[in-house]
Amino acid sequence: MGASRADLSASDLEFVRKLIRDRGGIELDADKGYLVVARLQKVVTTLSLGTLDQLLAELRSGRRRDIEEAVLDAMTTNETLFFRDSHPFPTLAEKIIPQILSDKGTDDLTIWCAAASSGQEPYSLAIVIQEHFARLAREGKVRIIATDLSSSMIERCREGRYSSFEVSRGLPPEYLDRYFVPDGNDYVVKECLRSMVDARTLNLTGSLASLPRVDLVMLRNVLIYFSAETKKEILSRIRTLLRPEGYLMLGGAESLVGLDTGYERISFDRTVVYRPG
Ligand SMILES: C[S@@+](CC[C@H](N)C(=O)[O-])C[C@H]1O[C@@H](n2cnc3c(N)ncnc32)[C@H](O)[C@@H]1O
Repeated sequence: MGASRADLSASDLEFVRKLIRDRGGIELDADKGYLVVARLQKVVTTLSLGTLDQLLAELRSGRRRDIEEAVLDAMTTNETLFFRDSHPFPTLAEKIIPQILSDKGTDDLTIWCAAASSGQEPYSLAIVIQEHFARLAREGKVRIIATDLSSSMIERCREGRYSSFEVSRGLPPEYLDRYFVPDGNDYVVKECLRSMVDARTLNLTGSLASLPRVDLVMLRNVLIYFSAETKKEILSRIRTLLRPEGYLMLGGAESLVGLDTGYERISFDRTVVYRPG
């Protein structure tokens, strides 16, 4: 069987599912074999590996870390958009960030976007800072650390280049004019946003030791991929990084209900955040 085969054997699928679970904490649905095949085929093409069977043989040999990384990257779902869910951003600007600054009694802020994908979320935050905390932005008091498991997404985040389709998703036109420069068919973030965002690859299931203490963690639309046990481990390690005055924010459809994590749930208008207990 060659590169065109449309299915994986049960044991190959289980092998790939285990690899992705062990390396990234990501639980792939057993009934989505077709999706796994499509994503593996892309890696076969990108790395010129010939066939899917060759890719599987390399993976099983454990010799090629680069192939393992590429497969892990390919299995991530990177859907994102600017100002996702809308309401958290004005609430951050008007209530949550002012509350953090007043509780801390200092005028510096460290935000961690823990599943930043291609960067729309950290750049939305950078726009909020420019618009509502201009002095802090000017004086370089705000640092947004953007991390993701996917190195290809982190490269995109660093580049800050978005297609016209991407900027049509969630980005108000006045912000497009103010903070992006057209370049061919794309739009590129201006330096005033880029300089605030420090993008790096980081696996949430691994060590967080490279990160500083943070005031706000955006952990949005990523917990859904993990088992309850992995969620609890990640949340407990994040708690050790969060300053006592800080907050954790999840995606609009996510909550910590039933996870017994020791975080305290707090509502600011429609926006729910969690304080380390
Ligand atoms: C659906 S996107 C969410 C992006 C953004 N936070 C948002 O809400 O629009 C989920 C991101 O989580 C990342 N991810 C998945 N597993 C991860 C892990 N173990 N460590 C870090 N990032 C991970 C994926 O690469 C992907 O970019």
